Amino acid sequence: MNHEPASTRVRTPVVASRLPKVGTTIFTVMSALALERGAVNLGQGFPDFDCDPALLDAVNNAMRTGLNQYPPMAGVPTLREAVARKIEALYGRAYDVGTEITITAGATQAILTAILAIVHPGDEVILLDPCYDSYEPNIVMAGGVPVHVPLMPGTFAPDFARIAAAITHKTRALVVNTPHNPSATVWSAQDMQRLAELLRSTDIVLIADEVYEHMVFDDRLHQSVARFPELAARAFLISSFGKTYHVTGWKVAYAAAPATLMAEFRKVHQFNVFTVNTPMQHGLARFMAEPSHHLGLAAFYQRKRDLFRAGLAATRLRLLPSQGSYFQCVDYSAVSDKTEEAFCRWLTTEIGVAAIPLSAFYSGGFEQKLARFCFAKKDETLNLALERLAKL
Ligand SMILES: Cc1ncc(COP(=O)(O)O)c(C=O)c1O
Repeated sequence: MNHEPASTRVRTPVVASRLPKVGTTIFTVMSALALERGAVNLGQGFPDFDCDPALLDAVNNAMRTGLNQYPPMAGVPTLREAVARKIEALYGRAYDVGTEITITAGATQAILTAILAIVHPGDEVILLDPCYDSYEPNIVMAGGVPVHVPLMPGTFAPDFARIAAAITHKTRALVVNTPHNPSATVWSAQDMQRLAELLRSTDIVLIADEVYEHMVFDDRLHQSVARFPELAARAFLISSFGKTYHVTGWKVAYAAAPATLMAEFRKVHQFNVFTVNTPMQHGLARFMAEPSHHLGLAAFYQRKRDLFRAGLAATRLRLLPSQGSYFQCVDYSAVSDKTEEAFCRWLTTEIGVAAIPLSAFYSGGFEQKLARFCFAKKDETLNLALERLAKL
């Protein structure tokens, strides 16, 4: 018989956090504030409109025809074939469908999987700040060391001298994101060439986050790693169906990489996710067969960008270039001298439009009086936001 009082027997163990620095993100905070104050939420990075009904029909059809059990571990073959065809048509590199493409549960999982597959404890991974918030905790989970190098303040161009200076014998990987969240800049062909030169004599793996690949404006070309054989030979190329087809909640994406890298990736994928849901993959494969569904995205978002920029031009907010992605950054220094977070809180509560401070994307924060808006919204949402922002 156990004579201990129940209060000492029933006890949840105290665990040391694997990610002690992770707390509530600014995205959660601003979204909650926007909801509470009835603000137009241009902080959240996803569409407030629905996807093409033909995509829903394709998924529905897959479900109703019994495609509901585990697919192959690497993904439904027709979807991998469609991905390989698209990459080859757009960027000229042929990835092997059997060994070089894997369907993932969102780009977030693909990035984590790539990092877990290649980063050993103590390895360094270079991140270019500002950057997407999952990279750093992913590296920490692998036991690696994040090394933050800033993009150039003002232009967000890669600072190759600083990247070169950050490379050590422990550098295992570098994460590059173009089109870029949050700055909305895109890398040029010259940037990619310089990157290739910089990495040539190293064994550094490139993690290329290209989730906004189809949102590049003003007749620019997306400079995928797949266009540069030297880079593609050392890269995980990651893209997201969620971004491309307005279905961020489906969490379906893909990774493409040379077979030896992909073999390691699949070892992690197999014992973490194993497979990604079947009917979505069949539906996406069918929908992707029509290239206009991804090729039309740049014009679709460029029109929204132009509508939003035309409205903002009448305010004292200074517009930064938006070359790609669905973001628009503004410099608010003519309006306020508040810190970025304080300004975004004020904008949400007093003006009724939510935005995200750029400092949230920097390790340790960095104040430039910049805020990020997302224009992946219905025209009526953008117009309502512009009506309110007209006060500035
Ligand atoms: C730069 C970047 N990478 C990755 C992701 C995540 O994509 P997914 O929703 O497919 O996981 C996002 C989403 O906001 C992003 O902005």
